[in-house]
Amino acid sequence: MTDTLLSVTGLTVHRGPRRILDDVSFTLGRGETLALVGESGAGKSTIAAALMGLLAGQAKVDGAAVFDDVPDLLALREKAWTGLRGRRLAMIFQDAGAALNPCYTVGSQLTSVLRRQLSLGRADARAKAIALLESVGLNDAAARMSSYPHQLSGGMQQRVMVAIALACDPDLLFADEPTSALDVTIQAQIVQLILDQTRQKGASCIFVLHDLALASQSCDRIVVLYAGQVMEAGPSGTVLRDPRHPYTQLLKSCVIEIGTADLDPPQGSVPGYDDLPAGCRFASRCPRVLPRCATQRPPLEKVAGRDLACWNPEEAE
Ligand SMILES: Nc1ncnc2c1ncn2[C@@H]1O[C@H](COP(=O)(O)OP(=O)(O)OP(=O)(O)O)[C@@H](O)[C@H]1O
Ligand code: SF4
Ligand SMILES: [Mg+2]
Repeated sequence: MTDTLLSVTGLTVHRGPRRILDDVSFTLGRGETLALVGESGAGKSTIAAALMGLLAGQAKVDGAAVFDDVPDLLALREKAWTGLRGRRLAMIFQDAGAALNPCYTVGSQLTSVLRRQLSLGRADARAKAIALLESVGLNDAAARMSSYPHQLSGGMQQRVMVAIALACDPDLLFADEPTSALDVTIQAQIVQLILDQTRQKGASCIFVLHDLALASQSCDRIVVLYAGQVMEAGPSGTVLRDPRHPYTQLLKSCVIEIGTADLDPPQGSVPGYDDLPAGCRFASRCPRVLPRCATQRPPLEKVAGRDLACWNPEEAE
């Protein structure tokens, strides 16, 4: 059985009166990759931000998140994040161009992380930075150290972000739609790079993805979110080969019928957070809806090798 690295229980996030995440629970094994999928506004980035301790002062966060030997990430004060964020938990953002500082060279941004987090001397930090840039496939890495971000292509910038995120050998990497700002041809290369690098280092990775096909190909586990709640979660093979939740089925049918991998289901839209139904949040779009769905929220229960929240799930194929 996989050794659990992260166990999230009942993660709930309020922004003012709006409950953006509602009782989200999932686990991630050491060395595993997990995909968070769902339409825009489902709360994927909010999960990553909550687990990185980035919501302090902006939102009310409840629940618990056991991470390795840390009893609860959600209860940490800002000071306690020193030595954790950037070191044991790292993040790759969607837009590398915006995440990199335009005023500093790639080399100085990378070496400053290495010097600060790993207390390396100048020469050691430079040598490690060059090795890191080589490992993420940047040609002529030594010369690239003195490039400014704007002198690199989008794909090269994202490679630099991967190098920075992995510089301190984190246990857990969050990659929040790391390729959506890139050309389609480069996207697969960057996802593969992140997977290869995290596997090589034995790290775990949480991918925030819009792309169901990519999620199924690249991740061990999948969590399907809808309007801030987990609808279905489990091993990717189990969930995507044989989806039981009507929403997962809708997502899968879009990939097959429209031939696109992007999650943009045509039937209806996600309810607004100001106007959520008391029962199942998917009820207004669900082809299998029952009368009780409107008033009673389905609990997340173990069914056929996955977690499932539905009163009337699809039977086995
Ligand atoms: N800073 C913010 N202030 C207020 N509401 C926010 C803020 N950031 C996100 N939200 C709201 O929280 C909800 C979840 O947003 P989140 O960004 O987590 O979704 P997402 O699944 O990552 O979507 P996307 O695929 O578009 O990135 C949305 O309704 C969004 O409007
Ligand atoms: S609980 Fe009801 S409305 Fe929600 S997905 Fe299941 S059948 Fe559909
Ligand atoms: Mg997002």
